[in-house]
Amino acid sequence: MTMALRNEQTDYDVARVRADFPIFDHPVNGNRLVFLDSAASAQKPRATIDALSRCYETEYANIHRGVYDLSMRTTKAFEAARDKVREFLGAAESREIIFLRGGTEAINLVAATYGRANLAAGDEIIVSHMEHHSNIVPWQMLRDELGLKLRVAPIDDAGNFRLDEFEKLLNQRTRIVAVTHASNALGTIVPLKQVIALAHDHGAVVLVDGCQAVPHMDIDVAELDCDFYVFSGHKLYGPSGIGVLYGKAALLEAMPPYQGGGEMILHVSFDKTEFNVIPHKFEAGTPHIAGAIALGATIDYLNELGFERIAAHEQMLLEYATERLTEFNSLRLIGTADRKASILSFTLEGIHPHDIGTVLDRQGIAIRAGHHCAQPVMAHFGLAATARASFGIYNTTEDVDALAGAIGKTIEMFG
Ligand code: ALA
Repeated sequence: MTMALRNEQTDYDVARVRADFPIFDHPVNGNRLVFLDSAASAQKPRATIDALSRCYETEYANIHRGVYDLSMRTTKAFEAARDKVREFLGAAESREIIFLRGGTEAINLVAATYGRANLAAGDEIIVSHMEHHSNIVPWQMLRDELGLKLRVAPIDDAGNFRLDEFEKLLNQRTRIVAVTHASNALGTIVPLKQVIALAHDHGAVVLVDGCQAVPHMDIDVAELDCDFYVFSGHKLYGPSGIGVLYGKAALLEAMPPYQGGGEMILHVSFDKTEFNVIPHKFEAGTPHIAGAIALGATIDYLNELGFERIAAHEQMLLEYATERLTEFNSLRLIGTADRKASILSFTLEGIHPHDIGTVLDRQGIAIRAGHHCAQPVMAHFGLAATARASFGIYNTTEDVDALAGAIGKTIEMFG
């Protein structure tokens, strides 16, 4: 395959997309930046950066509090961002969208509020074997506090979610199923529709960790019928420090608050506090105002590119990269599931992933090397770490060629 800046099948103009990301104007170690670590955190388009500075320069005050014009305008922009997120996720109502610090905080919130209020000793939570730590540890903490059982839905050796085995784990004690939409370490896309339907048949609620899915595909929480869906802004080309919890209104309304403070109250006396309505009940303190507004601008930018075209471009890159990397006999791909997001984990025989990462870095290629905050799935494959290349909207087949060339050199060097 020759270098394709324009994906002919989808009319996706990646050169134009790259021009929207100022970071690519800055070489790394004298090399053109080949950024293949978007799964850890994505780069930011000019639209996002401008929205952040525009907010601070022209339209910034605290929200939901001021009686003056500037505060009211900032509140309007913040709430408009909430509505953009609602539309982006396909949620029915804006009050089902809670702004938090990130996906991790969103999962912790559900564990600490829904979990504490609704689960008791002997109840069961199911997670999959390929969760990252954010979707394991909060449930473990809840297990230890309440005397619950944490059960693990297995994967096969390609990294596919085992729907048949998952079904066997469900029983009358299953209260929560917490599962990723797409695995950060393997790329596997989980068959959520079936998982959610099965969990609901057994009366369990389902939390979906969408951190690795939202950058790559159209999301429709209404169609999925999940109870909670979480994601982080920074993996979606938005600012860091802002994330989202979607929850069905009836569940959120019945849940106790997470943190206490300003904004989440209607009335406070020393005797008692009356809590605010959703979403404000879960947004104690001053939120990341500019971050939420810039996340809204990021969503506008991505919608303009179109998720169908983004997905087609990234799948083309994934296929091409898979083809190029499997040319190396000593390279083992970790995660070859039937449906994958654009993530390629691999090992090279006799070479530590950290050494691969360091050698690639000298050539301007940024990949992640390590356990990817997902140690149990590494253990499943008998590994402590892998090298991981993840592809985003700005990557090109030239990036894939650079990766393949650098892997070739690494093998030679350590040969
Ligand atoms: N969970 C993030 C990653 O996959 C940090 O790299």
